[in-house]
Amino acid sequence: MEQYFILENGVKLPKIGYGTYKSTDGNGGRIIRMALEAGYRLLDTAAIYENETEVGTAIRESGVPREEIFLTSKVWKDRLGYEATKKSFEESLERLQTDYLDLFLIHWPKPDPDSTDWRELDRGSWAAMEEFYQQGKVRAIGLSNFLPHHIEALLETAKIRPMVNQLELHVGYMQELAVQYCKSQHIQVQAWSPLGRRRVLEEPLVAKMAEKYGLTPAQFLLIFLLDQEIGVIPKASSMERLKQNLELPDVHIAEEDLYLLRCLPQIGWGGEHPDLPRVQEQKGLGV
Ligand SMILES: NC(=O)c1ccc[n+]([C@@H]2O[C@H](COP(=O)([O-])OP(=O)(O)OC[C@H]3O[C@@H](n4cnc5c(N)ncnc54)[C@H](OP(=O)(O)O)[C@@H]3O)[C@@H](O)[C@H]2O)c1
Repeated sequence: MEQYFILENGVKLPKIGYGTYKSTDGNGGRIIRMALEAGYRLLDTAAIYENETEVGTAIRESGVPREEIFLTSKVWKDRLGYEATKKSFEESLERLQTDYLDLFLIHWPKPDPDSTDWRELDRGSWAAMEEFYQQGKVRAIGLSNFLPHHIEALLETAKIRPMVNQLELHVGYMQELAVQYCKSQHIQVQAWSPLGRRRVLEEPLVAKMAEKYGLTPAQFLLIFLLDQEIGVIPKASSMERLKQNLELPDVHIAEEDLYLLRCLPQIGWGGEHPDLPRVQEQKGLGV
């Protein structure tokens, strides 16, 4: 399998990355170093994960040259707007102990679902990010959890088009309309919670189909997304799982199975939506 997607500006985005949310809890940067040792070269963090210092230190201690690592961070929704985003970006660089990022994302399009000034806030953040990009402080800029109407609002004033949109995507929550829209705009889609934070891993249908292809359920879920040209950033905490998720066999899922999986009722949605109040975590088919 080709290792990278090529973004609109020619930058190479590793297809599989390591998601660091909660991965430093109680162990400092040990699991991040393990992920680098396993061969991951994309690390996904965010200001809100409060682990940028551990991620930066783990990179330094790993001995892997900084330029071999694709480092993503994000500005949280309480720091939207031009000045706040500028400050947040500089703080992320400092904590990560680096002078550039590979990808910087607006984490959520709105400070809260009832926000009335989110359009101006997003445009302000984006203007700051365009400056970082033009100054060479970041190699690519993008969005996270933006639905088509949020992107359309941003595009009205954007000088540089977003290159990536990171969305919750997994079997049972495929956000087909948002994915198709991004593809039509040449925005690379990347899946967060590609394993549905275990909720989807535990679905009997997934286990049954994975077995049919000789894959583990996690590998099956990742290949399902990669087969649709969607990047993945699974989080795992042991060398065995890290390797299992990175070293994927060259297996493709038959079209009829892809259709079946893409047309399932909702499974395992995390309960967060930019325009709706948060819902308790969803579990299982038909819930
Ligand atoms: N942009 C956003 O708004 C947003 C939101 C949420 C997350 N993210 C990013 O997306 C990344 C991934 O999402 P996530 O951490 O929420 O969920 P996830 O990657 O879908 O699932 C992680 C869970 O799956 C387990 N797991 C991993 N590999 C496995 C395997 N091979 N077999 C069995 N279990 C396995 C992990 O267990 P162990 O850890 O115990 O091994 C962990 O409990 C995050 O770390 C973060 O970087 C972004």
